[in-house]
Amino acid sequence: MMNRQVRLAARPVGAIKRTDWSFTQEAVAEPREGEMVVKISHISLDPAMRGWMNEGKSYIPPVEIGAVMRAGGAGRVIASKHPGFREGDEVAGNFGVQQYAISDGKGVRKVDTSFAPLPRYLGALGMPGMTAYFGLLDIGKPKPGDTVVVSGAAGAVGSVVGQIAKIKECRVIGIAGGADKCRYLVDELGFDAAIDYKGEDVKDALKRHCPKGIDIYFDNVGGEILEAALARLALHARIVVCGAISQYNATSPPKGPANYLSLLVNRASMTGMVVFDYADRYKEGATEMARWIAAGKLKAREDVVEGGIDAFPETLLKLFKGENFGKLVLAL
Ligand SMILES: NC(=O)c1ccc[n+]([C@@H]2O[C@H](COP(=O)([O-])OP(=O)(O)OC[C@H]3O[C@@H](n4cnc5c(N)ncnc54)[C@H](OP(=O)(O)O)[C@@H]3O)[C@@H](O)[C@H]2O)c1
Repeated sequence: MMNRQVRLAARPVGAIKRTDWSFTQEAVAEPREGEMVVKISHISLDPAMRGWMNEGKSYIPPVEIGAVMRAGGAGRVIASKHPGFREGDEVAGNFGVQQYAISDGKGVRKVDTSFAPLPRYLGALGMPGMTAYFGLLDIGKPKPGDTVVVSGAAGAVGSVVGQIAKIKECRVIGIAGGADKCRYLVDELGFDAAIDYKGEDVKDALKRHCPKGIDIYFDNVGGEILEAALARLALHARIVVCGAISQYNATSPPKGPANYLSLLVNRASMTGMVVFDYADRYKEGATEMARWIAAGKLKAREDVVEGGIDAFPETLLKLFKGENFGKLVLAL
């Protein structure tokens, strides 16, 4: 069996180019004692991949030049010498951008496709869902009646953040690009309002929708939208710094928000979160998320691109163009 892989060929400057990747092919090795072979059927595409391609210190080491690109994925065990996994088990884990992975089982979990389709375990029931759950509940600390604003609201993390905030009886305003996504947030997901940042002035719209200020701003995008949210904080507001996708392709250091003293004036806080810090509590988060999904309180949406491994470079770019609607997944 041959394994086709996507490797990092060069560190991108600005937007990612196809030439930043190389494609290789090698035979799938036999699993050794304690290992298994996973046939990957779905690869998770994440904005964080852009950061992993850069050199320098971060919350996780960079992907080395020449290495198989790091990626979450899901698939089926096709051979196992691991005591905890059997042939036929469906699993999710950190398998890389390739068709087959040899795994020692670390960070791999079995998933139940009779409950939810496999791609959902890369979205609401996977890493983005855990990010939304722990970021909002642990750092945002929502209380009934709070005004919660979330950017990147129609995406994998943002759409779950807004729905959990509704479950916690907050007033929720989502910020997303385009009328279709905004309609979806209000009509399908039950957000109280949505702001189309591509079609209206975000500062004005936040003023209109948040007359008493923002109690929680869950930031997925950074940049000007962060600045607009800072300008509208309520007393003791909490900003959850989850991501800053508007800045990931910047070729010069991003300008800091000019109005950060709003944190001082409003005795507010701005806290960074990395989902991996909650690894020992994923079970708790996943159980509650599954309960909400089963009860019809939380809707999950995946955008599955049937492209095969060669379509990885173009598919990844969809995240940066806002072309995904829900959790972006590549089907192999
Ligand atoms: N801290 C953590 O542990 C952690 C874990 C997972 C994810 N994250 C972060 O969470 C954020 C969302 O990730 P995701 O996986 O849920 O992705 P996603 O929201 O499903 O997809 C990315 C979305 O970002 C929006 N976007 C792209 N360029 C933008 C720009 N210049 N300005 C504003 N919006 C822009 C697009 O939506 P529009 O069409 O609305 O523009 C696009 O659909 C990212 O910043 C990611 O890095 C952090």
